[in-house]
Amino acid sequence: MSKHLIDRAAEVLRTNDLGHYTVPTHGLYPFQWNWDSCLTALGQAHFDEARSWQEIETLFEHQWEDGMVPHIVFHKEDDGYFPGPEVWDTGRPVPTTGITQPPVAAFAVYRLFQRAKNRELAKEKARALLPKLHAWHAWFFQCRDPQDTGLVAVIHPWETGRDNSIDWDEAFERVPTDNVKPFVRRDTQHANPEHRPTQAQYERYIWLVQKFRSLGWDNSKLHDASPFQIVDPGFNGILLRSCADLAKLAEEFGEQTIAEESRAWAASGIAAMESLWSDAYGQYLCFDRATGSMIDSPSVAGILAAVAPIPDANKTTIAKRVEQLAEIASYPVPSHDPTDPRFDGLRYWRGPTWLIVNYMIADGLRAGGQTKTAAMIEKSSLELIKKSGFAEYYDPIIAEPCGGTTFTWTAAMVVEILSGSERVNT
Ligand code: GLC
Repeated sequence: MSKHLIDRAAEVLRTNDLGHYTVPTHGLYPFQWNWDSCLTALGQAHFDEARSWQEIETLFEHQWEDGMVPHIVFHKEDDGYFPGPEVWDTGRPVPTTGITQPPVAAFAVYRLFQRAKNRELAKEKARALLPKLHAWHAWFFQCRDPQDTGLVAVIHPWETGRDNSIDWDEAFERVPTDNVKPFVRRDTQHANPEHRPTQAQYERYIWLVQKFRSLGWDNSKLHDASPFQIVDPGFNGILLRSCADLAKLAEEFGEQTIAEESRAWAASGIAAMESLWSDAYGQYLCFDRATGSMIDSPSVAGILAAVAPIPDANKTTIAKRVEQLAEIASYPVPSHDPTDPRFDGLRYWRGPTWLIVNYMIADGLRAGGQTKTAAMIEKSSLELIKKSGFAEYYDPIIAEPCGGTTFTWTAAMVVEILSGSERVNT
């Protein structure tokens, strides 16, 4: 290897940088993705702080009036992706999808703010983003937790960012496929179909989109109308961490109302997370809100929850769980337990390891004193890159690079891990 890893990572970030936003990778994902951009900003900041603020600002320019921040912003036309703007038909001035993604933004903004060298710029940018971030969190609790349980539901697998997880299999059986307009997938033309979701899953993804579109993307209706309502511990963990971080950011600016409300959401959510804990697995599990039952599926969502300020005792157990998984999967943390017969090491979120997930798990574990496990995760993440390059995801046992190549957030996480910056506020 001729160049240092950090130079290679910087090159990936540059290759995918379109000026005011960054594509996850050219071809397969030609637009701006929500949580990709926020995590990408963390990597960009090491080279250009102004550019990293801009990445998040661009995303928030497309926040909906109700507070939602969409999962994709279609800045320009590209027929290499399906489903494009015409399928979503959200009526936005610059087209966006009508669903959201894991709210890592406040976590990222607080981190950018804390370690910024340009203090003036950081104050100006974070101050301006603060009410927008808060509005997004408020939207979640209003529209995705109508019964006030403290935890929010996702209504489409794409919202979780873990598109084809085994977690959704049972719930997806309830999503019909009737009246789905015929479509041509584009993802399988850019990436190996063996690494991608199945056709049956795609039909259900599209059925949900058509359903929500028929309701005019009215978020006061979508949650209750969706046959798919899942309380995902990883997703909620990210939201609760973001609420906790936003509370700290709000304090910096003397915004007491935002700080108090954010702290209250974090506290009640953390308490409610206990209902998702599984002693049998030593991690959290998803809850199917539509049927009122726990989902017996040991996925990484229940480990990713460690990113939230959950009790240290739970983090200790989760660290053990990761160590146990690392004995089976040399490149942890697999997106699904390899001992489960449903595990598939190459297929997207049904087994492969993802660097962004590793980064957040390591961060949360370190904050809970689990430094050894955190360091192990980071070390093996870098080994994956050295062995298999900047892929979208990797088989956790044989390290085969999967999905897209030259992948932005993978590169951003490498920069972060190499810089050790996730240790700043822990
Ligand atoms: C896939 C991933 C999702 C990510 C997107 C762009 O849909 O599952 O998490 O945001 O690609 O990288």
